[in-house]
Amino acid sequence: MSKHPINVVVLISGNGSNLQAMIDNINAGHVDATISCVISNNADAYGLARAQHANIPTAMLNHKDYTDRASYDNALTKLIDGYQPDLVALAGFMRILGDDIVDHFKNRMINIHPSLLPKYRGLHTHEQVIANGDKEHGCSIHFVTSELDSGPVIKQAKLTVSPDDTVESLKQRIHQLEHKLYPEVIQWFAEQQS
Ligand code: GRF
Repeated sequence: MSKHPINVVVLISGNGSNLQAMIDNINAGHVDATISCVISNNADAYGLARAQHANIPTAMLNHKDYTDRASYDNALTKLIDGYQPDLVALAGFMRILGDDIVDHFKNRMINIHPSLLPKYRGLHTHEQVIANGDKEHGCSIHFVTSELDSGPVIKQAKLTVSPDDTVESLKQRIHQLEHKLYPEVIQWFAEQQS
């Protein structure tokens, strides 16, 4: 364990099952971190309710309220900076971020992606695995850089694709891997800070 819990801000857009895995692992003492805020760009994100249930502050920043990407990213940067996080963790945050915000949080912003990067950047990864008959699939956590899903990979988890797998079964199986991998990587990051 590191000397102090690290301060994490989590960005979400949807269900927030990875957020839940972080919360559960922090509460169980497996991850030496505190989540100071969960930020969403989508008011209907179920992850906001998960955060509220865990007494974690939440904030909404809707990209539709901004005329361009730069002004949204600027507002998001200021909002995140207000919490002075050691780490910004993207967990199903469905926004492409511009160069300025990515540079601002260089080496302290990470993302989880449901593929074995560099394979299958972007959306519909499970569909591509099935269509290409891949034998292996997995998920990756990487530092965020200005090119989508392309920053240095920190850690991956893999599974063997079975002939019976469907897009839905892969989605569920990958989520199970993600829920173990993300807390591990946050703990790794915390240990680097001590
Ligand atoms: C995960 O599969 C993650 O890899 C991708 O978005 C999904 C988020 O799921 N970036 P959840 O909202 O954490 O349940």
